[in-house]
Amino acid sequence: MNNPACGRFITLEGGEGTGKSTLQRALRDRLAQHGIDAVLTREPGGTPRAEAIRALVLNPPGGKAFSPLAEALLMNAARRDHLEVLIRPALAAGQWVLCDRFSDSTRVYQGASGEVSPAVILDLEAHVVGDTRPDLTLILDAPVNIAHDRRAARQGVQDVFEQRAMDFHQAVRVAFSDIARREPERCQLIDASRPAAEVADAAWTSLLHRLLPAATAS
Ligand SMILES: Nc1ncnc2c1ncn2[C@@H]1O[C@H](COP(=O)(O)OP(=O)(O)OP(=O)(O)O)[C@@H](O)[C@H]1O
Ligand SMILES: [Mg+2]
Repeated sequence: MNNPACGRFITLEGGEGTGKSTLQRALRDRLAQHGIDAVLTREPGGTPRAEAIRALVLNPPGGKAFSPLAEALLMNAARRDHLEVLIRPALAAGQWVLCDRFSDSTRVYQGASGEVSPAVILDLEAHVVGDTRPDLTLILDAPVNIAHDRRAARQGVQDVFEQRAMDFHQAVRVAFSDIARREPERCQLIDASRPAAEVADAAWTSLLHRLLPAATAS
Protein backbone atom coordinates (compact mmCIF):
# COMPACT_ATOMS: atom_id res chain seq x y z
CA MET A 1 0.00 0.00 0.00
CA ASN A 2 1.17 3.54 -0.61
CA ASN A 3 2.38 5.73 2.24
CA PRO A 4 -0.61 6.13 4.61
CA ALA A 5 -0.07 9.91 4.55
CA CYS A 6 -0.95 9.72 0.87
CA GLY A 7 -4.32 9.16 -0.70
CA ARG A 8 -5.56 5.79 -1.87
CA PHE A 9 -5.36 4.55 -5.44
CA ILE A 10 -8.36 2.48 -6.62
CA THR A 11 -8.67 1.08 -10.12
CA LEU A 12 -11.80 -0.27 -11.79
CA GLU A 13 -11.32 -3.01 -14.35
CA GLY A 14 -13.41 -5.37 -16.48
CA GLY A 15 -14.71 -5.78 -20.01
CA GLU A 16 -16.66 -3.20 -21.96
CA GLY A 17 -20.15 -2.56 -20.64
CA THR A 18 -19.59 -4.31 -17.31
CA GLY A 19 -20.36 -1.06 -15.46
CA LYS A 20 -17.00 0.49 -14.55
CA SER A 21 -17.99 4.09 -15.20
CA THR A 22 -21.31 3.61 -13.41
CA LEU A 23 -19.51 2.17 -10.38
CA GLN A 24 -16.91 4.93 -10.44
CA ARG A 25 -19.65 7.55 -9.98
CA ALA A 26 -21.34 5.51 -7.23
CA LEU A 27 -18.09 5.16 -5.29
CA ARG A 28 -17.36 8.86 -5.68
CA ASP A 29 -20.74 9.61 -4.08
CA ARG A 30 -20.19 7.19 -1.20
CA LEU A 31 -16.69 8.49 -0.52
CA ALA A 32 -18.09 12.02 -0.51
CA GLN A 33 -20.55 10.94 2.20
CA HIS A 34 -17.48 9.96 4.25
CA GLY A 35 -15.89 13.36 3.64
CA ILE A 36 -13.46 12.01 1.03
CA ASP A 37 -13.31 14.05 -2.15
CA ALA A 38 -12.03 11.61 -4.79
CA VAL A 39 -10.39 12.45 -8.09
CA LEU A 40 -12.08 10.61 -10.98
CA THR A 41 -9.99 9.74 -13.99
CA ARG A 42 -9.70 7.13 -16.73
CA GLU A 43 -7.34 5.28 -18.99
CA PRO A 44 -6.24 5.57 -21.61
CA GLY A 45 -6.45 9.28 -20.89
CA GLY A 46 -6.73 11.49 -17.85
CA THR A 47 -4.37 14.23 -19.08
CA PRO A 48 -4.44 16.22 -22.33
CA ARG A 49 -1.53 14.27 -23.82
CA ALA A 50 -2.90 10.91 -22.71
CA GLU A 51 -6.37 11.81 -24.04
CA ALA A 52 -4.75 12.55 -27.42
CA ILE A 53 -3.19 9.07 -27.34
CA ARG A 54 -6.60 7.64 -26.40
CA ALA A 55 -8.18 9.16 -29.49
CA LEU A 56 -5.38 7.75 -31.63
CA VAL A 57 -5.68 4.21 -30.25
CA LEU A 58 -9.47 3.90 -29.96
CA ASN A 59 -10.20 5.50 -33.32
CA PRO A 60 -7.05 4.95 -35.37
CA PRO A 61 -6.67 6.86 -38.63
CA GLY A 62 -7.90 4.60 -41.44
CA GLY A 63 -9.92 2.51 -39.00
CA LYS A 64 -7.35 -0.27 -38.67
CA ALA A 65 -6.19 -1.04 -35.13
CA PHE A 66 -2.50 -0.69 -34.22
CA SER A 67 -0.60 -3.94 -33.74
CA PRO A 68 -0.72 -5.30 -30.17
CA LEU A 69 2.87 -4.24 -29.44
CA ALA A 70 2.32 -0.74 -30.86
CA GLU A 71 -0.87 -0.50 -28.78
CA ALA A 72 0.94 -1.66 -25.63
CA LEU A 73 3.61 1.01 -26.13
CA LEU A 74 1.05 3.74 -26.76
CA MET A 75 -1.01 2.73 -23.70
CA ASN A 76 2.11 2.81 -21.56
CA ALA A 77 3.17 6.20 -22.92
CA ALA A 78 -0.28 7.53 -22.02
CA ARG A 79 -0.10 5.85 -18.59
CA ARG A 80 3.28 7.34 -17.80
CA ASP A 81 2.03 10.85 -18.54
CA HIS A 82 -1.12 10.19 -16.50
CA LEU A 83 0.95 9.00 -13.53
CA GLU A 84 3.41 11.89 -13.70
CA VAL A 85 0.91 14.68 -14.27
CA LEU A 86 -2.21 13.59 -12.40
CA ILE A 87 -2.14 10.37 -10.34
CA ARG A 88 1.08 10.74 -8.35
CA PRO A 89 0.59 14.43 -7.51
CA ALA A 90 -2.99 13.71 -6.39
CA LEU A 91 -1.93 10.79 -4.15
CA ALA A 92 0.96 12.83 -2.74
CA ALA A 93 -1.52 15.59 -1.86
CA GLY A 94 -3.58 13.04 0.10
CA GLN A 95 -6.35 12.68 -2.45
CA TRP A 96 -8.05 9.44 -3.35
CA VAL A 97 -7.95 8.50 -7.03
CA LEU A 98 -10.65 6.40 -8.71
CA CYS A 99 -9.28 5.33 -12.07
CA ASP A 100 -11.48 3.72 -14.75
CA ARG A 101 -9.07 1.10 -16.22
CA PHE A 102 -5.33 0.93 -15.55
CA SER A 103 -2.48 -1.50 -16.14
CA ASP A 104 -4.60 -4.67 -15.85
CA SER A 105 -6.43 -3.57 -19.00
CA THR A 106 -3.11 -3.46 -20.84
CA ARG A 107 -2.25 -6.93 -19.57
CA VAL A 108 -5.61 -8.20 -20.79
CA TYR A 109 -6.27 -6.33 -24.05
CA GLN A 110 -2.77 -6.09 -25.47
CA GLY A 111 -1.90 -9.54 -24.10
CA ALA A 112 -5.10 -11.22 -25.31
CA SER A 113 -3.91 -11.72 -28.88
CA GLY A 114 -0.88 -13.66 -27.65
CA GLU A 115 1.29 -11.55 -29.96
CA VAL A 116 3.01 -9.71 -27.11
CA SER A 117 4.50 -11.98 -24.49
CA PRO A 118 3.26 -11.52 -20.91
CA ALA A 119 6.90 -11.00 -19.86
CA VAL A 120 7.18 -7.94 -22.13
CA ILE A 121 3.88 -6.51 -20.89
CA LEU A 122 4.80 -7.03 -17.24
CA ASP A 123 8.27 -5.58 -17.80
CA LEU A 124 6.79 -2.45 -19.38
CA GLU A 125 4.31 -2.22 -16.51
CA ALA A 126 7.08 -2.45 -13.91
CA HIS A 127 9.05 0.36 -15.57
CA VAL A 128 6.07 2.63 -16.18
CA VAL A 129 4.06 2.13 -12.97
CA GLY A 130 6.96 1.61 -10.57
CA ASP A 131 5.66 1.52 -7.02
CA THR A 132 2.42 3.37 -7.81
CA ARG A 133 0.48 0.11 -7.67
CA PRO A 134 -3.24 0.33 -6.96
CA ASP A 135 -4.20 -0.14 -3.31
CA LEU A 136 -7.36 -1.84 -4.53
CA THR A 137 -8.48 -3.07 -7.93
CA LEU A 138 -12.17 -3.83 -8.37
CA ILE A 139 -12.65 -6.23 -11.27
CA LEU A 140 -16.17 -6.25 -12.65
CA ASP A 141 -17.19 -9.64 -13.96
CA ALA A 142 -20.31 -10.35 -16.03
CA PRO A 143 -21.29 -12.81 -18.76
CA VAL A 144 -20.38 -11.38 -22.15
CA ASN A 145 -23.97 -11.42 -23.38
CA ILE A 146 -25.06 -9.21 -20.46
CA ALA A 147 -22.24 -6.74 -21.10
CA HIS A 148 -23.06 -6.80 -24.81
CA ASP A 149 -26.73 -6.00 -24.16
CA ARG A 150 -25.74 -3.11 -21.91
CA ARG A 151 -23.44 -1.70 -24.55
CA ALA A 152 -26.13 -2.09 -27.19
CA ALA A 153 -28.69 -0.32 -24.98
CA ARG A 154 -26.22 2.52 -24.41
CA GLN A 155 -25.70 2.90 -28.18
CA GLY A 156 -23.12 5.41 -29.44
CA VAL A 157 -20.25 4.75 -31.83
CA GLN A 158 -18.30 1.54 -31.21
CA ASP A 159 -14.53 1.80 -30.83
CA VAL A 160 -11.99 -0.73 -32.13
CA PHE A 161 -12.24 -2.89 -28.98
CA GLU A 162 -16.03 -2.97 -28.77
CA GLN A 163 -16.25 -4.07 -32.40
CA ARG A 164 -14.41 -7.33 -31.78
CA ALA A 165 -16.13 -10.73 -31.76
CA MET A 166 -17.78 -12.29 -28.70
CA ASP A 167 -14.95 -14.83 -28.30
CA PHE A 168 -12.56 -11.91 -27.83
CA HIS A 169 -14.80 -10.51 -25.09
CA GLN A 170 -14.95 -13.97 -23.47
CA ALA A 171 -11.13 -14.16 -23.50
CA VAL A 172 -11.06 -10.71 -21.89
CA ARG A 173 -13.43 -11.90 -19.17
CA VAL A 174 -11.30 -14.97 -18.42
CA ALA A 175 -8.08 -12.94 -18.38
CA PHE A 176 -9.50 -10.43 -15.88
CA SER A 177 -10.72 -13.18 -13.55
CA ASP A 178 -7.29 -14.84 -13.76
CA ILE A 179 -5.70 -11.60 -12.52
CA ALA A 180 -8.18 -11.46 -9.63
CA ARG A 181 -7.38 -15.04 -8.70
CA ARG A 182 -3.61 -14.54 -8.88
CA GLU A 183 -3.52 -11.26 -6.94
CA PRO A 184 -6.21 -11.53 -4.25
CA GLU A 185 -4.48 -9.04 -1.96
CA ARG A 186 -4.85 -6.26 -4.51
CA CYS A 187 -7.90 -7.40 -6.47
CA GLN A 188 -11.56 -7.99 -5.66
CA LEU A 189 -13.71 -9.76 -8.23
CA ILE A 190 -17.23 -8.31 -8.23
CA ASP A 191 -20.27 -10.05 -9.74
CA ALA A 192 -21.38 -7.26 -12.07
CA SER A 193 -24.40 -9.10 -13.49
CA ARG A 194 -26.48 -7.77 -10.58
CA PRO A 195 -28.36 -4.45 -10.52
CA ALA A 196 -26.08 -1.42 -10.29
CA ALA A 197 -27.03 -0.67 -6.67
CA GLU A 198 -26.01 -4.19 -5.59
CA VAL A 199 -22.74 -3.93 -7.50
CA ALA A 200 -22.02 -0.64 -5.74
CA ASP A 201 -22.86 -2.20 -2.34
CA ALA A 202 -20.45 -5.09 -2.95
CA ALA A 203 -17.69 -2.77 -4.12
CA TRP A 204 -18.23 -0.42 -1.18
CA THR A 205 -18.09 -3.30 1.32
CA SER A 206 -14.78 -4.41 -0.15
CA LEU A 207 -13.41 -0.88 -0.10
CA LEU A 208 -14.47 -0.35 3.51
CA HIS A 209 -12.85 -3.55 4.74
CA ARG A 210 -9.66 -3.14 2.78
CA LEU A 211 -9.03 0.59 2.88
CA LEU A 212 -11.17 2.07 5.66
CA PRO A 213 -11.04 -0.61 8.37
CA ALA A 214 -11.47 2.03 11.08
CA ALA A 215 -14.88 2.86 9.61
CA THR A 216 -16.01 -0.77 9.97
CA ALA A 217 -14.56 -1.42 13.45
CA SER A 218 -17.28 -1.67 16.06
N1 LIG B 1 -25.29 -3.27 -12.85
C1 LIG B 1 -25.92 -2.78 -13.93
N2 LIG B 1 -27.10 -3.26 -14.33
C2 LIG B 1 -27.71 -2.81 -15.44
N3 LIG B 1 -27.22 -1.85 -16.23
C3 LIG B 1 -26.03 -1.32 -15.90
C4 LIG B 1 -25.30 -1.76 -14.74
N4 LIG B 1 -24.15 -1.07 -14.66
C5 LIG B 1 -24.13 -0.25 -15.72
N5 LIG B 1 -25.27 -0.37 -16.45
C6 LIG B 1 -25.59 0.32 -17.70
O1 LIG B 1 -24.87 -0.38 -18.72
C7 LIG B 1 -24.27 0.55 -19.62
C8 LIG B 1 -22.75 0.36 -19.53
O2 LIG B 1 -22.30 0.79 -18.25
P1 LIG B 1 -20.93 1.59 -18.10
O3 LIG B 1 -20.85 2.66 -19.13
O4 LIG B 1 -20.81 1.98 -16.67
O5 LIG B 1 -19.91 0.42 -18.44
P2 LIG B 1 -18.35 0.51 -18.68
O6 LIG B 1 -17.78 -0.71 -18.08
O7 LIG B 1 -17.85 1.82 -18.18
O8 LIG B 1 -18.27 0.45 -20.26
P3 LIG B 1 -17.03 0.88 -21.20
O9 LIG B 1 -15.96 -0.14 -21.01
O10 LIG B 1 -17.60 0.82 -22.57
O11 LIG B 1 -16.62 2.26 -20.78
C9 LIG B 1 -24.73 1.93 -19.20
O12 LIG B 1 -25.84 2.25 -19.99
C10 LIG B 1 -25.12 1.75 -17.74
O13 LIG B 1 -26.15 2.64 -17.36
MG1 LIG C 1 -16.85 3.35 -19.17
